[in-house]
Amino acid sequence: MSRNRVVIFDTTLRDGEQSPGASMTIDEKLEIAHALDELGVDVIEAGFPIASPGDFEAVRRIAAEVRRPIICGLARCNDADIDRAWEALREAAHPRIHVFLATSAIHREFKLRMTKEQIIERAVEAVKRAKSYCDDVEFSPEDAARTELDFLTAVVQAAVDAGATTINIPDTVGYSVPEQFAAVFRHLLENVRGADRVVFSAHCHDDLGLAVANSLAAVKAGARQVECTINGIGERAGNAALEEIVMALRVRRDYFGCDTGIRTERLYPVSRLVSNITGLVVQRNKAIVGRNAFAHEAGIHQDGILKERTTYEIMRPEDVGVPRSELVLGKHSGRHALRQRLIELGYRPTEEQLDKIFAAFKKLADRKKEIYDADLEALMEDHLRAIEETWRLESFHVFAGNSVTPTATVRLRNLRDGVHEDAATGDGPVDAVFRAIERITGISAQLTDYQVRSVTVGKDAQGEVTVEVERDGRTWRGRGLSTDIIEASAQAYLAALNRIVHYQHRTGEPNTETAEAVGE
Ligand code: KIV
Ligand code: ZN
Repeated sequence: MSRNRVVIFDTTLRDGEQSPGASMTIDEKLEIAHALDELGVDVIEAGFPIASPGDFEAVRRIAAEVRRPIICGLARCNDADIDRAWEALREAAHPRIHVFLATSAIHREFKLRMTKEQIIERAVEAVKRAKSYCDDVEFSPEDAARTELDFLTAVVQAAVDAGATTINIPDTVGYSVPEQFAAVFRHLLENVRGADRVVFSAHCHDDLGLAVANSLAAVKAGARQVECTINGIGERAGNAALEEIVMALRVRRDYFGCDTGIRTERLYPVSRLVSNITGLVVQRNKAIVGRNAFAHEAGIHQDGILKERTTYEIMRPEDVGVPRSELVLGKHSGRHALRQRLIELGYRPTEEQLDKIFAAFKKLADRKKEIYDADLEALMEDHLRAIEETWRLESFHVFAGNSVTPTATVRLRNLRDGVHEDAATGDGPVDAVFRAIERITGISAQLTDYQVRSVTVGKDAQGEVTVEVERDGRTWRGRGLSTDIIEASAQAYLAALNRIVHYQHRTGEPNTETAEAVGE
C-alpha cells in the first residue's frame, strides 16, 4: 500500500453499536457489513466477541461471509478474550485481532489498579498471544490521549517489539485538541524503534466536537489509519464520522496529500442504511450526509450556484451519492419505472421486495400526488427494515380535540393468534394510541424520545416518526412512516415494542405480560 494511502477502519458495528439504543440484530449487522464492503472500507471491526453470544455470532458470520476487507474482533488483554476473538475470526479471509489495555494514570490507578510495569507486561503477553493466532494484530493503549507521553512511548515500543502491526492511539474520552493530538503522533513516529514497520492509527471520540479534527490532525502528522463510524455514531457524543474524514481527505487532497479506497458515491446510501437500522436520525445540518448539506437557501448563493456551482459548492451532491430531490413517479407509473428509479437511487431490490414496494408505492400514490426520491427511499428503507413482527397495526380510530379527552381505539394483529382490539384515553391522540397499544400487547415501556419529520415538502408529505423507549434499563427504537403522523407514530411505537418481544424471544428472557396478552 502506498505511503499516502489512509486505511479506513470502520467501527460502526463495535464502537458505533455502543450508542445507547443502537443495538442491532445479527442480520442487520451483516447487512451493514456488506454495505461497508461495497463502500470500500479497509477494515471492519465487527464486534467484541467475548461481550455476548450475539456479538460472537455476528463477528463469526461477518468473518465467514465478507471476504474482501480485513475483519477485526476486539479483545481485552487477557487469554479468554483473545481466544474468543480468534474463535470468532478464524474463518475470515483477512482476520485481525485488536487488543486494548488502558494506560493513563487515572485508569491505572482507579480502574485497573496496576503499575506501569504490570501494564507493559500484560500488553506484551496479549500481543504475543494474539500473534500466535494471526499475523495482523492491533494494539490500543486505551485513554492514550491522557497518558504520560514517556509511558505511552514505552508501552507502544513494547507492543511493537512484541509484534503488533497496527498501533492505535485512542482519545477515549474526547479530551484532546488537534495540535496536541498531532504532537503525540509525531513523537511516537520519531521515538519508537521500528515505527516505520507499523501503521499508526487514530481513534477519536467527539465529546468536545473535535473527533474529526483530531483524526485529520493525526493524519497530517503521519497516522495512516483512521478509526471511524458511519454518521459518527458511538459512545456518548460518538466517534469520528467516516464520511467527514473521507471527504475532507478527498476535497483537501492539496493539503493532506492522502487517498482512501472509499467509493464516495456510496456514502449517502450507507448513511441512510445505518440511520434506519439503528434508528439514530442524522441531524439536518450534518456535514456530507445531512439533509441540508447541499441545500442553498440564500438568494445570493442560489444565484452564484446557477452561474457557476463552485462559487458556493466544494463538492457535488453526486460525489457522495446524495440523490437529487426531484419529482419522479406518479400514480400511473409502472413497476418497471419504479425499479429503474430505485436502481438509480442505489438499491437493488429483489423481485419479492419490488412486489412489496410497488404495492406500498401504489397505496402512497393514492394518498399523495407527487412522489419524490426521498419518498421512495423512505418506502424502501421501511420495507428493508421490517423487523421481525409479532404485532402489526390493522387499524385505529382516534377521537380528539381541544375540549374532549382524546380517545383511541386500536386494532392489532398478533401474527401468532389473530386480532386484538382495545381502547384508551390519553393526554393527546398519540398518547391515547400508545396507551391502547400497551393495553393490547401487555408491554409497557417508558417513552424517552419522540420525533416527527416530514420526508419531503408539501402538506401531503409523508411523516417519519422515530421513538425511543426504555424498559428494564434497555433502550429500544422504532420508526414509522405514513402521510398520517398518528399512524406513523403507532407504527413506530409498535416497531419498538416488537423489538422488545424479539429480544425476549432471542434471549429467552421471560415476559409474563406478553405471555398473558397472547394467551400462552
Ligand atoms: O475509545 C476507545 O478507547 C476504544 C478502544 C477499545 C480502542 O474504543
Ligand atoms: Zn472508542
